[in-house]
Amino acid sequence: MWLKLITWLTLLQLLAGALSQELKIFGGITEPVRNYPFLVNLRRGPTFKCGGALIAPSCVVTAAHCLENDVQNVDNLYVNAQQDCLNDTIPDSNVRQAWYACISPQYKPINLDADLAVIKLRQPFYTSDIINTVAVDFNDPPEDARMRIVGWGMTNEEGLDWGQCLQSADVSLVRRDQCNRQMSLITPITKNMFCALGENKIDACQGDSGSPILYGGRVVGVVSWGKDCGSGLPGVYTRFSSSSMMWFLQSFIETNCLD
Ligand code: ARG
Repeated sequence: MWLKLITWLTLLQLLAGALSQELKIFGGITEPVRNYPFLVNLRRGPTFKCGGALIAPSCVVTAAHCLENDVQNVDNLYVNAQQDCLNDTIPDSNVRQAWYACISPQYKPINLDADLAVIKLRQPFYTSDIINTVAVDFNDPPEDARMRIVGWGMTNEEGLDWGQCLQSADVSLVRRDQCNRQMSLITPITKNMFCALGENKIDACQGDSGSPILYGGRVVGVVSWGKDCGSGLPGVYTRFSSSSMMWFLQSFIETNCLD
């Protein structure tokens, strides 16, 4: 009788464990932001919006949909560097105000094609070991590439945690044709997108948008969209190596970020 009860309890525990695994959307681990000196979070006033990456001391890449409707008005847009958890107090030297922003001219809100924007800051960050820029990689990662995603997005179905601490996870590239088969009912994968998915359905989620995806320590894209999170479907990222994304980023950097 006792043995039976214990067996049942163990089974229940296993089941609960499996379920909570399912619910853990991002499925990542908490990691100190100091491991990512280029990583910033975007705020409208005090409100957290998205992630971003410093590609020059005064320029941040993010997703276009993080700014849409308000790209002309970035007066209340701020970027916070070196903030582990969204509620943490950080020194003023880690905060910058946006000056202007530019959205990719190809950006389409209906299908999130070309979901890329660059923000020019009023003052550059003083770069050091603590806050620094990241290199952009305009090459496609190899087919078997394992990449790193980071962000302050949702880790469960309870919605955005406004005190969320930075999460990271590894994801693998998903072949374009395969991703298209899985996602095209929602929206086809354009040449300005690529897909990635981690083991055990690890995926980016709401709030991770605009955060960089890294291959070999360089940024190859930013988090753009997905169907739910942790559903087993791949996450979709803006692809820096497409000719239009490369052209947009390179020309913006040349004319606006080399100070
Ligand atoms: N659009 C979301 C955002 O604004 C990102 C969604 C990513 N979802 C995913 N399943 N990979 O934060």
